[in-house]
Amino acid sequence: MTETKTTTTMPEPRRSIAFIGSECYPFVKTGGLGDVMYALPKALTELNCDVKVILPRYSCIPQKYQEKMVYRGSFNMDLCADGRSFYVGIMEYVWDGVVYDFIDNQEFFSNGNPYTNLVDDIPKFCYFSKAALAALNYMDWIPDVIHCHDWQASLVPVLLRTQFADTPIKDAKTIVTIHNLRFQGVYNIDTVRYWTNLPEYIFNKDVLKTGYEDANMLKGGLTYADVITTVSNTYSGEIQTPFFGESLDAHLRYHSGKLRGIVNGIDVIQWNPKEDTKLAAPYDISDVLEQKKANKKALQEELGLEVNEDKFVIGLISRLTDQKGLDLVNEILPSLIDGNTQVVVLGTGDPRYEESFRNFEYQFKGSECSCIMYDEGRAHRIYAGSDALLVPSLFEPCGLTQLIAMRYGTVPIVRETGGLKDTVEPYNQFTNEGNGFTFDRYEAGLLYDAVNRAKTLYFTNRWCWDEMVQRNMAKDVSWEVSAQQYRDLYLELKP
Ligand code: ADP
Ligand code: GLC
Repeated sequence: MTETKTTTTMPEPRRSIAFIGSECYPFVKTGGLGDVMYALPKALTELNCDVKVILPRYSCIPQKYQEKMVYRGSFNMDLCADGRSFYVGIMEYVWDGVVYDFIDNQEFFSNGNPYTNLVDDIPKFCYFSKAALAALNYMDWIPDVIHCHDWQASLVPVLLRTQFADTPIKDAKTIVTIHNLRFQGVYNIDTVRYWTNLPEYIFNKDVLKTGYEDANMLKGGLTYADVITTVSNTYSGEIQTPFFGESLDAHLRYHSGKLRGIVNGIDVIQWNPKEDTKLAAPYDISDVLEQKKANKKALQEELGLEVNEDKFVIGLISRLTDQKGLDLVNEILPSLIDGNTQVVVLGTGDPRYEESFRNFEYQFKGSECSCIMYDEGRAHRIYAGSDALLVPSLFEPCGLTQLIAMRYGTVPIVRETGGLKDTVEPYNQFTNEGNGFTFDRYEAGLLYDAVNRAKTLYFTNRWCWDEMVQRNMAKDVSWEVSAQQYRDLYLELKP
């Protein structure tokens, strides 16, 4: 008689996570943080996690979402050193298995933009961090882990271990994720002390204090968090060095035992060229080569460029800031426009770059187009209609545009830094492997060389180019693997 063995699979333990951050697609987004705050919770719900995302209820959130929010309760919360208290309303919206709780307060969140200037933003995010914790207690929803994003939510771990130490939420573990170390929320101690009423010992060099008279909100969060993560492995190493460390490298080296890098993914439903209603000609890997030409022509028509499918179209979709390597682009752009090449820029930001790109459009009418605006639909059409996408960043914690480009069969040209290095494998002409073209030192000549290598392959060996396009579309850029790593981390924190 043979013995039959029955295997019972243990149900995986369910974990509850509160995400706290300052932006989240589709409600409000200024960059990649908004994408991550949307896509990661969604991916986690598929891994047996309960996720609540806590956000400010900015009045700029589109009316169609505001209308669907349901009032969940309200209370008054003490905030300032002189006992000033503020209203906290909770408005809830449940969508795709994720619960979004918006902290409502007109005094703080009535501006048209989530970020204005530090004079307003410091009080705003002191209030928000405390209100988020108070709201969790109020709703009696005590998560296993509170996952805080960037400086705007970094006071949370500090508040949790001080003002909330005797409240129900105290048992939660905390993670601070650094999406961009450049922004830290630094302001004079007196102001931060006033808006937080935190005890004096918190304003020392190991926690909030930086320099002689400033408080650094991110630094405090890094000190008090149980774990620190950042959005790529390479960046987690880079930020421990003076060049990338933004004055916190020593602090990060000190806390390196609890620091790890987990690379971002993208939501492959939100970014799906086959189902993308914003495109002239949706496509997948089977018809990308034909349909990309149709998208290229539609893009050229939309932007007033010479309509010609043989041109090599280079896209650039970016906040126009120093981080993004735009001085290198400015230096080489006139040399790129050689009769075979078109350049399309979409972005807003530093007036210096807005101005220079406007000038290029004027100078190279028909070959260069600079869209100085924020436009989701146009971004989709540029990802689909371009042959290559430039991301020559000075530093890049992760970068999502190169991932979206690959998903859309577009070849990234990137600098080997941060997440760009971790996600784009350089093309190898001998083995015909790789996903894009890369360069290492921050020099215009090297960027120019990388673009020329891309152009050479495109114009002289289209077969290999097309294979790379298809390889990129087949590459896994989803959240699947990374969401699992976050989940493992949550389990590690709360076994
Ligand atoms: P960062 O967060 O540093 O700005 P990322 O590469 O992580 O850079 O994310 C940028 C996100 O913002 C991408 O989803 C990109 O498509 C989008 N984006 C950037 N600029 C614009 C723009 N002008 N219009 C539309 N989308 C934009
Ligand atoms: C930041 C970084 C970017 C990253 C994004 C999402 O804005 O600049 O590199 O992709 O956050 O984590």
